[in-house]
Amino acid sequence: GADRLVDPFQREYYYLRLSITDVCNFRCNYCLPNGYQPETHKSSFLSLDEIRRVAKAFAAMGTEKVRLTGGEPTLRKDFLAIAETISSIENIRNVALTTNGYRMARDVEAWKKAGITSLNVSVDSLDPRMFHTITGENKFHEIMRGIDRAFEVGYHKVKVNSVLMKGLNAHEFERFLDWVKDKPIQMRFIELMQTGDMDSFFDKYHLSGEVLAQKLLQQGWELQSKGRSDGPAKVFRHADYMGEIGLIMPYEKNFCASCNRLRVSAKGKLHLCLFGEEGVDLRDLLQSDEQQLLLQARLFSALQGKREHHYLHIGDSGVRSNLSTIGG
Ligand code: GTP
Ligand code: 5AD
Ligand code: SF4
Repeated sequence: GADRLVDPFQREYYYLRLSITDVCNFRCNYCLPNGYQPETHKSSFLSLDEIRRVAKAFAAMGTEKVRLTGGEPTLRKDFLAIAETISSIENIRNVALTTNGYRMARDVEAWKKAGITSLNVSVDSLDPRMFHTITGENKFHEIMRGIDRAFEVGYHKVKVNSVLMKGLNAHEFERFLDWVKDKPIQMRFIELMQTGDMDSFFDKYHLSGEVLAQKLLQQGWELQSKGRSDGPAKVFRHADYMGEIGLIMPYEKNFCASCNRLRVSAKGKLHLCLFGEEGVDLRDLLQSDEQQLLLQARLFSALQGKREHHYLHIGDSGVRSNLSTIGG
């Protein structure tokens, strides 16, 4: 059989984060404050066939979960075909979606039918005005309807992402906790990450997740232990709450120790880490089904260059212009 995706630190990769577009219709202040700007020399995003070939090669090497990211993945006209294609690949048990929720109220039933098994949706504020301020879109109520709709069409649990920022939405922490009291939501607070072009923004708004962890512990929340396919979030539970809390703290020292994911960008570059490297182009090996073994070999050899951890906690600024170009 094919090699498995094991790195020099014995971490095995079961999970691919596959970006299918850089385009987004939101303008989140920490990501795309001026909206998506089409490039002058466009190379196109991966086609459905190219996407199928990437996912197949990863699956043959042990990948069990594919998360579709972007940009906003659901803006692609062939989004349902992509979901169906990936979910029909042998070995792929989970096809997850990270979305801004814009199309959710309308389309979540179709997503479910197409094989999307789990949903992560961003909700940066429970106050419609603050939501608008942060995301550039006045879509709060629609997103809420989308979440309700997801439960109606049979998702048992939804993960909600919120980037808490000082002086903007940070005071909503308790309100978010109340919100998930009787809902099967994993509410995740994501520490703002510095991306290449936003030094002063970061300094102004960054809030350490450690403070939130202390608050949760004081209020009787208990830290859960992690399984092999769990993500970087630290998950907390509380007897009085149906919802869970997740903290994503990329600046924490051991954040990368349990790294289990690889990334492919919408233009076909393999990224071993969210930060600090150039990426390995895969596109020339996505042109026919005959190239699968060559592709697997390239994946394996690239993985041998994976570093033990990123260097954000010791001052590496990260290099991305924003997370929409790598899918977060
Ligand atoms: P699951 O564990 O599959 O639910 O996914 P997730 O929480 O990793 O996915 P999601 O797309 O909802 O991402 C939430 C946040 O975590 C985003 O801000 C991502 O950029 C961040 N994130 C996910 N993986 C990593 C990682 O490996 N490194 C860093 N620094 N951040 C990550
Ligand atoms: N820091 C932290 N989270 C970010 N996201 C996008 N950019 C950043 C950043 N600079 C989050 C979005 C979304 C997830 C995929 O990534 O809020 O929930
Ligand atoms: Fe779009 Fe997501 Fe970036 Fe917001 S964080 S602008 S929803 S890609």
